[in-house]
Amino acid sequence: MATALRNIQMVDLNTQYDKIKSEVDEAVREVMGSAAFINGPKGRSFQAALETYLPAKHALPCANGTDALQIAMMAADLQPGDEVIVPAFTYVATAEVIALLRLRPVMVDVDPQTFNVTAEIIEQAITPATKAIVPVNLFGQSCDMEPIMEVARRYNLIVIEDNASHRR
Ligand SMILES: Cc1ncc(COP(=O)(O)O)c(C=O)c1O
Repeated sequence: MATALRNIQMVDLNTQYDKIKSEVDEAVREVMGSAAFINGPKGRSFQAALETYLPAKHALPCANGTDALQIAMMAADLQPGDEVIVPAFTYVATAEVIALLRLRPVMVDVDPQTFNVTAEIIEQAITPATKAIVPVNLFGQSCDMEPIMEVARRYNLIVIEDNASHRR
């Protein structure tokens, strides 16, 4: 019997959802039932679990990856015109949030082997106006963060890691 071929999706959220459907549906029902949508028990237990898992001093759950980027950049107290280095190969949200806050996105190429930015590529784009770097970890593959953190320390730059695509 012939097997039907399916188109490969760029992003296949339905397949991801199907795998954990009962768990997700149950959690959504619980939150709807409690009507505690913001800072409720579910949000707080997720926050505590994330702080332990990472481990991080603080984790702030929010609505989505775009909000997370915006909140992190606002917390970093960046000023209009400050340059933020960002890979040209990423989802639009990474650069969109930089522009929304009137910062200047400086697009850099990625390494063709990993599709991620490297410390060397970042360092070449640093100017006196550079204030932050947003390495993007894509397709479950992390950037080589140690050398990136070393460059950031040397030039006194803030690092905001974008992990929104890590799940794919
Ligand atoms: C690299 C990257 N950054 C940011 C985002 C934005 O995340 P969200 O769609 O949850 O706002 C995405 C979404 O796919 C992404 O892939």
